[in-house]
Amino acid sequence: MKFLSIVVCFLWVNSLMASETYKAGVLHLQNKDISEFTPFIHSAGATGLDILVLPPLEPTENYDEVISIVSKAARQAGLYVVIHLYEKARCQLGYEMVRSNLVFDRKGAIVAVYRKAQNGAANCTTSDSDLVTFATDFGVTFGVLMEEDIVLYDEEHLKGVKNFVMTGDWQAEVPFLNADQFAPSWTYITDANLVSTAGIYSGKAGVKTGADKLAVSELHKNGASDVPVVPSVNPSLATFAGDLSQYVIRPLDLEASSRGYKETVCHRSFCCEFYVKTGDAETHPESSYSLAAFNGIRPFSANHNIGTQICVISGSEKSNTFFELISITANFTKQNSQYPIVQSATVLPTEHFKFETNVNGIPQQVTLQIVETQNVINLGIFGKDATDKLEHNYVYGEKNSTNSEQNEIYDYIFNEDVQEFFDYVWIRLRILIVIVSIYILEMM
Ligand SMILES: *[C@@H]1O[C@H](CO)[C@@H](O)[C@H](O)[C@H]1NC(C)=O
Ligand SMILES: *[C@@H]1O[C@H](CO)[C@@H](O)[C@H](O)[C@H]1NC(C)=O
Ligand SMILES: *[C@@H]1O[C@H](CO)[C@@H](O)[C@H](O)[C@H]1NC(C)=O
Repeated sequence: MKFLSIVVCFLWVNSLMASETYKAGVLHLQNKDISEFTPFIHSAGATGLDILVLPPLEPTENYDEVISIVSKAARQAGLYVVIHLYEKARCQLGYEMVRSNLVFDRKGAIVAVYRKAQNGAANCTTSDSDLVTFATDFGVTFGVLMEEDIVLYDEEHLKGVKNFVMTGDWQAEVPFLNADQFAPSWTYITDANLVSTAGIYSGKAGVKTGADKLAVSELHKNGASDVPVVPSVNPSLATFAGDLSQYVIRPLDLEASSRGYKETVCHRSFCCEFYVKTGDAETHPESSYSLAAFNGIRPFSANHNIGTQICVISGSEKSNTFFELISITANFTKQNSQYPIVQSATVLPTEHFKFETNVNGIPQQVTLQIVETQNVINLGIFGKDATDKLEHNYVYGEKNSTNSEQNEIYDYIFNEDVQEFFDYVWIRLRILIVIVSIYILEMM
């Protein structure tokens, strides 16, 4: 009897432990063709994955076909599948190109749809201004994101959700803000799990996946992670300055910094206070750093502008300058909207990094500090600004009317679409004619 209860107890503890995590996967594939995804969906199912995020598909004509292929594969493999598709939606006199994130459950049914017009000035597609979520049979509720959302969404917008899937095709026009660059900072601050085409991240524990085609990771359901790490970007994704042309820049005084010195750099009443102390180690004579501040609205992508406040110390080239201490402090206008930016050619030990908000009891004061480090490329604080006008842009997007290049591309797709639509209708019609003819012949 005692033995039995021990066994029961063991099984109970075991099931309890098993239920605290789930297995997530991401497919990294250059070729964005659905036929190449399906074998991976099956092998993901065979390895016991609960949820798989696929790379974005290119705009395709056979939207319905793709959906039925993915649905079938999800059902056969028995796992949740997340996919990003382009869809042509009928709109008044023409069509609107819509970006869609779709989630299929283990039975192949669509359980979440998150759509956005590709062109910000959409007539027929209204963006969801609420976070799209779905619940799973393994007890986790996920938020659905596209890549730009981690920058655009505010913390309150995330509704306390701690697990996210993210897929989409998008390039930031502001340095540091591409999804693969920004994801470590975002999960560090939100303490959330992010299963995305930019990698799998777990809160402050950072990136969990390597470079495998099918990258797999076991995640804690509550997002609470193991050992925190510095939210630094993979060095291969670090970008050297040069695109800081709109910033106010002061060169770092290497002479003064060997003794330790303070410098304040301001842009439009937003000030960044830098303290830099370099070590005795041999400094490359060519190496140079800039202390930079930016405060203003930047075009963020084709259809969005974003209000940003940024402080950054940025290297002009690979340098072995040894920093005993770098400290960056600023008073931002919006509370709880700052993220650390750490781009370094070497991995920083956790205890050498500190990111603090609400410094000295001033709610909007934020400090980033690192000690004893080398090979710094960019180090800074990215903050979002707050005005109602900008909020509107964040959520709904606004077409930048001077951005004519984008419109031309859109028009081009649009015209091609019309032609292809009629081809499509004609093919369908022919099939119908054949079926009806057979039917009539049968009747006779
Ligand atoms: C959207 O509305 C504008 C203005 O009403 C119109 O000029 C444009 O053709 C519409 N676009 C589509 C795709 O219907
Ligand atoms: C931030 O605000 C405090 C309090 O007003 C002020 O003493 C400090 O100099 C400010 N710091 C910066 C970097 O502007
Ligand atoms: C629109 O885009 C152009 C070029 O991309 C840029 O110079 C301009 O500042 C943008 N306008 C707005 C209102 O963002």
